[in-house]
Amino acid sequence: MPARHPSSRRPHLNRTSASAPGKIILLGEHAVVYGRPAIAVPFQARRATAVVTDRDPGAGPLLHALDLGQEGLLESWPESDPLALAMRLTLAEMGLGPAPDWRVEVSSQIPIASGLGSGAAVATALVRSLFLHGRIEISCERISSIVFRSEEIHHGTPSGIDNTVIAYEAPVWFIKGQPLELFTITHPLTFVVADSGLPSPTRETVADVARMRSENVAKVDRIFEQIGQIVERARRTIEDGEQGNLGSLMDQNHRLLREIGVSSPRLDELVQAATGAGALGAKLSGGGRGGNIIALTTEEEAQAVVTALLAAGARSAVVNRISS
Ligand code: PMV
Repeated sequence: MPARHPSSRRPHLNRTSASAPGKIILLGEHAVVYGRPAIAVPFQARRATAVVTDRDPGAGPLLHALDLGQEGLLESWPESDPLALAMRLTLAEMGLGPAPDWRVEVSSQIPIASGLGSGAAVATALVRSLFLHGRIEISCERISSIVFRSEEIHHGTPSGIDNTVIAYEAPVWFIKGQPLELFTITHPLTFVVADSGLPSPTRETVADVARMRSENVAKVDRIFEQIGQIVERARRTIEDGEQGNLGSLMDQNHRLLREIGVSSPRLDELVQAATGAGALGAKLSGGGRGGNIIALTTEEEAQAVVTALLAAGARSAVVNRISS
């Protein structure tokens, strides 16, 4: 008689997969680090995936980051690696005793360092797949807090917005340190998400904004205050289904992000290309300098905006429809 597999919790299962979306910050980035509200939504068009399979007994846990071409026993991954940290924290939290003989392979369609939350998405998929493989239930809140720990390695002082919107996979109204509010988008919104092709160094832009603020607290806080008011108004506008007003609030948010130095000529060009092609409003999304811009469009204009953004040199331009 064959020996019983040690992991009797999943007698018929030796392969488990889970996935997580990217994210888009609609409004409020950077100011959110200083306690102002921000609105973020999942970016369903691009996802990260993790697949767990069983290894031979005694082989130990192994992590394979497909896109990075890195594979090795978990113990061989550096302490400072965000994904390995997420895996270690997850296995510890699962309380399985000796490290299980599992292989986790992660991959992602979300471009790295582009303001779309690729790190948080990969970590979320990984955490979720491990719990599923072990047949242990886990709440979105718990996933989010494990992923937050790996985000600290990526970003230094993350607000927590990326791990939250990705773990809950729902639109969020986010204020750092306050209980999460899921956000209902009753009237569907259409966005074009366009990649500048430039890296988006969130850690650097967040540090530069902190430096600028330390040199002129009153000025920078005034800008954050204005961004916070825009986000409050945007919430009401989204709830009332008034797209035109939302577009103009996005334009205003972009101008304020320029004032704190996180835009770039490339991002400004893409924003102009989108509005020139009929977008209702456009702004950078995420850390800035590089990464993505988002443009709010009507359903009818979406394709024209995609074409204009590609003609202006965007590496990709994808339509994302949001409703809840
Ligand atoms: O990870 P990114 O590039 O989408 O940036 C996150 C948004 C910031 O507000 C710039 C930083 C943060 O932690 O909220």
